[in-house]
Amino acid sequence: MVTTPAPSPILAMARRAAALRAEGRDIVDLTLGEPDFAPPLHVIEAARAAAGRPLGYAPANGLPDLREAIRRDVLTTHGLTYGADQIAVGCGAKQVIFNAFLASLSPGDEVVIPAPYWASYPDMVRMCGGVPVIVPVAARPGFRLQPEELARALSPRTRWVILNAPGNPSGVTYTAGELEDFASVLRPWPDALILSDDIYAHIRYVATPHHTLAAVAPDLSARILLVDGVSKAFAMTGWRVGWGCGPVSLIHRITAVQSQNCTQTGTLNQLAAVAALDGPREILVERRAIYRQRRDAALSVLRASPDLAVAAPDGAFYLLVQVRDLADDTTLALQLLDAGVAVVPGSAFGATGHLRLSFATEAATLIEGCQRLRSALGARALSGAA
Ligand SMILES: Cc1ncc(COP(=O)(O)O)c(C=O)c1O
Repeated sequence: MVTTPAPSPILAMARRAAALRAEGRDIVDLTLGEPDFAPPLHVIEAARAAAGRPLGYAPANGLPDLREAIRRDVLTTHGLTYGADQIAVGCGAKQVIFNAFLASLSPGDEVVIPAPYWASYPDMVRMCGGVPVIVPVAARPGFRLQPEELARALSPRTRWVILNAPGNPSGVTYTAGELEDFASVLRPWPDALILSDDIYAHIRYVATPHHTLAAVAPDLSARILLVDGVSKAFAMTGWRVGWGCGPVSLIHRITAVQSQNCTQTGTLNQLAAVAALDGPREILVERRAIYRQRRDAALSVLRASPDLAVAAPDGAFYLLVQVRDLADDTTLALQLLDAGVAVVPGSAFGATGHLRLSFATEAATLIEGCQRLRSALGARALSGAA
């Protein structure tokens, strides 16, 4: 039997916030990494048009038209060329990652995960029989992984290494030079596959272009699974369309898992994803600018507090806020619910002593939530609580 994980701490906090709201409490919810925008209009129109057609099963690795659209997207976004047989579509990037682990991990295989990390990675690894090896990235501004930190975690038992940039929750992005350094560390370990989780590639606030490991180190591409999807960039979280691009043998195994699991993600949803990928891209630029304004507005409220330290993230839509002298971030997150703001404790991401706030929330609500957080921490400092 698989190891059953504890419920996702992110969803647990979101559920608590929703329950309190249902009781009539005024709670600002900054827990979920869920864009508050609607999907682009042309996507909705394409879905409406497709809904009237017969929609049967699609191939387990995704509709050919979608895989073609992904091929074009990966070429435009990353300058990488993949064949149609090197792409697997799943119910969100999440399922593709899970399928990849299930298809490749043997009991005791190690998966190297730099911390802070997306809270789902360690649980997925455990459920698939693997052992998460957490690499604590020193809390230098922005949590930038250093090559020597990565090198120390690798061993003959390493089956996967996870690189996620822009990162959830740190927002870290890497330059081509930094990725070159990671590639040099990874080359001597030919049995280690590399998960490049680029789901936030389009949500970046730095002027430099997005770089991905397979483009920077093409000699490693036979070991890299590049993962992306429509959830974050196109505000289509509920449509559940994500994909992985990688070596044919791994894609075949991922597809085999998919075909005996839920067969495929919905055919209608896949057609909507084609419309998103092939449609105009200005909306990505506009939304990026809005996220940036929200990020900066939230930072100016939070940075006015002597109890908080927070770096400006390069990408994604999270603030990882360090709270001075904080021993127990879970208790603090629960106390903050009483103060009317829901956030996720940093320990859920391997960042004890921090809180994660999502700024995928409309500006006035976000500012109100940050002000509540600041006032609650001010009151806590006055009462001398730890
Ligand atoms: C780093 C990271 N990877 C993958 C995912 C999963 O995205 P999807 O909605 O495509 O399953 C998320 C969602 O929060 C994420 O933050």
